[in-house]
Amino acid sequence: MKDIKILIEHWGKIDSLKIEDYLEVGGYKALEEFILGMDRMGALGEIKKSGLCGRGGAGFPTGTKFEMVYKQIGKKYFICNLDESEPGTYKDRLIVDKNPHLLLEGIIISALIVGADKAYVYINGNYQKQKEILEMALLQAKKKKFWGNKILESDYSLKIEIYSGAGAYICGEETALVNSIEGQRGEPKLRPPYPTECGLLGRSTAVNNAETIASIPWIILNGGEKYSKIGSKNSPGTKLFILSGAINNPGIYEAPTGITVKKLIDDYAGGIKRGKEFWFAQIGGACGKLLLEKELKAKMEFGKECECPLGSGSILVVDKSVNIHDLLISWADFFRRESCGKCVPCREGTFRLWEIAKRFKDGKISERDKEAIQDILWTLERTTFCPLGKFAGTAFRDAITKNILTF
Ligand SMILES: Cc1cc2nc3c(=O)[nH]c(=O)nc-3n(C[C@H](O)[C@H](O)[C@H](O)COP(=O)(O)O)c2cc1C
Ligand code: SF4
Repeated sequence: MKDIKILIEHWGKIDSLKIEDYLEVGGYKALEEFILGMDRMGALGEIKKSGLCGRGGAGFPTGTKFEMVYKQIGKKYFICNLDESEPGTYKDRLIVDKNPHLLLEGIIISALIVGADKAYVYINGNYQKQKEILEMALLQAKKKKFWGNKILESDYSLKIEIYSGAGAYICGEETALVNSIEGQRGEPKLRPPYPTECGLLGRSTAVNNAETIASIPWIILNGGEKYSKIGSKNSPGTKLFILSGAINNPGIYEAPTGITVKKLIDDYAGGIKRGKEFWFAQIGGACGKLLLEKELKAKMEFGKECECPLGSGSILVVDKSVNIHDLLISWADFFRRESCGKCVPCREGTFRLWEIAKRFKDGKISERDKEAIQDILWTLERTTFCPLGKFAGTAFRDAITKNILTF
């Protein structure tokens, strides 16, 4: 199972800037298969059968989302979410660096399945190089008639546009992303209605993460059933895990879902660095949970019953030489800066958490601060408008309840 590679199979083996290289390893065969040998409903059936669920963090079933848009009438949009602003997460960037045509093929097939005639790639404003790579890939693919008017001489047509964001974390949230493309403030909207019903310019829109989309060609070529047998039963397939911190081989690894954190650290990342003592691991980015050594058997999967939400798939391994106060400040500072300011509990709560984190470091923590922490965490978790605020204090809370931070 360790060798199953769906997303990274051709990384480093092909020149990502040459479409011919991708074609030589079977690239765009899934698109051909879809155009020549399937109808939209059949392809949708394969995605549903695969059990693929969103790799952007929430793990929503992709087939269900596609179906919601598929069933809508009128003009529709498809959006590839390449905002990727989560600290410690760079998997979508590498998908573009290493094999941009795989992503493009996935975008074209997905857009056609849901019935969109226009697709956007919403790319993080800091990803200038990746934008240029995608622009080149788009030009090459258009010349081969893989997108544009009458794709491969069929009746399908699709326009694709790259839209560059400004690098705000909140613009990765799908409703804020839609606002941003519309030229409005990058802040979330109340859901429902969900974008599948009322998204870009009021039209039905599927927003999907780049990693989710890059899995689509494999499913079309190999069938949903085959995909559904890989990894965890509840959220099958492979996942890109980004390991960093006190490990021997930091980097990106593709592994089946359901794998334990321990296995990822020991078997994939080469174990803990010599001379370092494991303290805890943070799963899924700055808003992620902290796991102690005894909890490393947690399985990495999506869904309500999962032991530990895997979020974007990043795993930060922290050893005992790290100053927890510095870490608390950096988490709190991130959320303070990235709070969009729309709602008071998050705008003020993240700021106050950051101030308290700094007082911890300076040894100036008061009895009042200790009480206020509980208040702020409660308020963030229960009263903020969107998940950014809800999870802004998760690591802080875990640090306290798991005695990583003592006071
Ligand atoms: C604060 C915040 C930031 C987010 N950032 C991203 C992001 O950078 N990329 C992404 O794909 N999804 C991000 N999401 C999740 C999206 O809202 C959405 O669920 C996702 O793009 C859907 O794609 P999927 O179903 O393929 O996962 C973010 C959500 C929140 C609340
Ligand atoms: S929780 Fe934070 S990021 Fe979300 S709407 Fe409120 S202020 Fe904006």
